[in-house]
Amino acid sequence: MKSQQTAKFIIHGLNPLGGEIEVYGSKNTAIKIIAASVLIPGQVILNNVPDILDVQKMISILEKMGGIFSRQDHQLTLDLTDLRPIDPDPDLVRQMRASIVLVGPLLARFGKVSIPHPGGCLIGPRPIDRHLKAFRDLGAEIIENQHNCQFKFSQSPQAKKVIFNKISVTASENVIIFAAFQKQKTIIENAAIEPEVIDLIEFLKLAGAKIQVLGRRIEILGTQQLKPLNYKIIPDRIEAATFAIMAAASRGNLNIKHLNPDHLTSLLSKFQAMGIKFEKGKDFLYIKNSPKILATNIFTAEYPGFPTDIQSPMGLLLTQAEGKSRLKENIFENRLGYLLELQKMGAKIKIINSKEAIIFGPTPLHGAKINSLDLRAGATLIIGGLIAKGKTEILQAENIDRGYEKIEERLKKIGARIERVLI
Ligand code: EPZ
Repeated sequence: MKSQQTAKFIIHGLNPLGGEIEVYGSKNTAIKIIAASVLIPGQVILNNVPDILDVQKMISILEKMGGIFSRQDHQLTLDLTDLRPIDPDPDLVRQMRASIVLVGPLLARFGKVSIPHPGGCLIGPRPIDRHLKAFRDLGAEIIENQHNCQFKFSQSPQAKKVIFNKISVTASENVIIFAAFQKQKTIIENAAIEPEVIDLIEFLKLAGAKIQVLGRRIEILGTQQLKPLNYKIIPDRIEAATFAIMAAASRGNLNIKHLNPDHLTSLLSKFQAMGIKFEKGKDFLYIKNSPKILATNIFTAEYPGFPTDIQSPMGLLLTQAEGKSRLKENIFENRLGYLLELQKMGAKIKIINSKEAIIFGPTPLHGAKINSLDLRAGATLIIGGLIAKGKTEILQAENIDRGYEKIEERLKKIGARIERVLI
């Protein structure tokens, strides 16, 4: 993944989709496991690493600090032994909010780190107070100013407990990575337990940390002698869900390979309620053409609830369901912006407020010129374009490249008429 040139997608809809598509490795695990490798001397080999912009950004940040990376297809070899104790490049950090997960490993390894204050973003203000409170609980001194946050330890961290009043995925991961390097036990209460968090834990366990997950309580006994390892990242459940919804919305017969159906339980129970037929095996999901799709209500929640990252493709699917569906986003403040774009395509939607909407269906969609506001919204609009009559133009294709590798090439293989046009 080299260029970050502005591009748009042009889609001609209503081509039947079908055949087979493969799911690549999880974006939200790959980024954290690369960050956690800061604590491991020697060569780490990661398999199933997607070639996407967000992973590339994390690599670029660590390369600037002295990390060595080489990639062959989906295998990434990294050696962060000689990382310099300098702060991550603020310009690169600002480009990706997920770079906040570098605080845990850099603070554990070097005893201090400074990062720019991450700004708001299109899906909500996204503050970092849960990260700050957790590191303060662990004994860190934090100096915040208008531009950045400086974290440091004046004395070694002691055995500690971190209690999250509200769950945060990356704040939990930050603490887990930090604690994996501490000789004393750390306990986290009310931690996130998304499959991506569990995969990070599996990686750290194989590297030598002792970690137990007891519901939402996580106990970590770390070591400063984490060992190099070879690890395979889990399939991306959000990419898998995107393809499954694409198949259902387009009334295709699609076999989605290399996924873990256990990570899709909340989606598949909704599919059952909606009358969408499917078969699943150990590592595949076969979506069958289901002419009649029924309305349902979607309320997002932390895992194992319905994932916020699938809320937007699901919102699109609800435009094709018979009846009235209610959609409620409970994690982010402002993640329904894509509904305005779907309205431009003819969708019948009543937006109640920034977190709630009613969707009426089934409604045939027509092509339009629309904006991919963020990663998941962008993927949703691609599905919209594929099931719409006529031509759809999706601007800001690079938002989609953050999390979906070579999406147009893969979709063409299942029958999509989609082109990337550089602008
Ligand atoms: C992770 O973001 C994911 N990102 C998101 O994926 C995902 O949507 C989200 O978890 C929820 O599952 C990565 O893993 C890189 P949170 P994260 O902290 O950790 C508020 C995608 O499309 N909050 O669990 O940033 C926050 O504003 C994305 O791949 C605070 O108020 O999410 C949000 O409303 C986007 N203070 C809620 O908590 C904090 O200090 C949950 O956020 C932290 C979070």
